[in-house]
Amino acid sequence: MQGSRKIKPRVLAIFGSPRGKKSYSSAFHRAFLEPIRSAAVVHSFHVYTMKIAACTACGHCHTHGDCIFDDDMKRIYRELRSADMISISSPLYFSSLPGPLKILIDRCQMIWELRERNEWPVKNAHGFFISSGGADYTNMFLPSVTIIRHFFNSLRISYDEKNFLLFRGMETTAAHSAASEHMTRCGEIGQQYLSKLTGTAE
Ligand SMILES: Cc1cc2nc3c(=O)[nH]c(=O)nc-3n(C[C@H](O)[C@H](O)[C@H](O)COP(=O)(O)O)c2cc1C
Repeated sequence: MQGSRKIKPRVLAIFGSPRGKKSYSSAFHRAFLEPIRSAAVVHSFHVYTMKIAACTACGHCHTHGDCIFDDDMKRIYRELRSADMISISSPLYFSSLPGPLKILIDRCQMIWELRERNEWPVKNAHGFFISSGGADYTNMFLPSVTIIRHFFNSLRISYDEKNFLLFRGMETTAAHSAASEHMTRCGEIGQQYLSKLTGTAE
């Protein structure tokens, strides 16, 4: 029947690891997305395969509301405009995010400027973060989570930090055997986010 067809929610999935199929954070991210794919359109981007110039603080976005660079960031801006969910996965590098992912985030300064001018669509998008670190020490994910929080806040993307999936000790032998349990956990959380996206969550 015409008019009853529902538009599928859109998910922007940003993969921050350079390790392709060997990457833990990417595997966890895919497991998280698995249930979501049944009802949403997922657009995946791998930052290490993209050409994204670093922000030079030229101030052009402040004065003109757009960016001087014509690169792959245009595809990310387009997806960010329409996404109902933004999921980000990343390895932990020197207790933070790897450079290319941080560069992508810095380039969202343009969106911050557009928000200030009320020229960015207000959408109730959900944000999600997955990370894996090789070692195991106190507060190891704190810098990454702080950056992601700042990023989501700037774009007014809602998120529930207690659901973020942060896997530590991934370079230990114990972690290899725990990886499949981690994947199951990612799938369960993905299922919860599917409900949020399709509007069946409380
Ligand atoms: C450049 C570099 C820096 C790293 N820094 C840290 C670190 O500060 N803390 C940590 O626990 N692991 C660190 N690691 C290990 C990775 O975080 C770990 O292997 C992670 O699971 C990789 O994720 P991936 O498999 O998704 O690429 C580092 C690895 C590299 C290559």
